[in-house]
Amino acid sequence: MPAILQLLYASRITFRENASSQDIEPEVRRILMQSRQNEPRSGVVGALYYGDGDFFQCLEGEPEAVRDTLERILRDDRHEEVRILREQPPGKH
Ligand SMILES: Cc1cc2nc3c(=O)[nH]c(=O)nc-3n(C[C@H](O)[C@H](O)[C@H](O)COP(=O)(O)O)c2cc1C
Repeated sequence: MPAILQLLYASRITFRENASSQDIEPEVRRILMQSRQNEPRSGVVGALYYGDGDFFQCLEGEPEAVRDTLERILRDDRHEEVRILREQPPGKH
């Protein structure tokens, strides 16, 4: 079985929230669409939490693919103050 890396980080949004909308925040919708488009190529799966101006994301996949995805995410100016919380094989405490 190939090695799997799990990576957790938290960050802060930089865009203005569209509070009037009952629907999903448009910027978050765009991020999710981009992520879904890239997933088949990278094999990286992610769970993204968004609330009160904070992001929290868990990424899982082959280590190199996870690090490539993270590099793209770190360059993204829709968020800042990215703090890596955990980087390890899933299931380890
Ligand atoms: C909080 C946050 C989470 C993101 N998560 C992912 C992700 O899991 N996968 C992904 O491919 N892009 C993710 N992105 C988007 C990337 O930063 C980048 O814009 C995108 O991958 C570029 O895709 P493209 O080269 O297909 O345009 C995220 C961006 C932000 C701000």
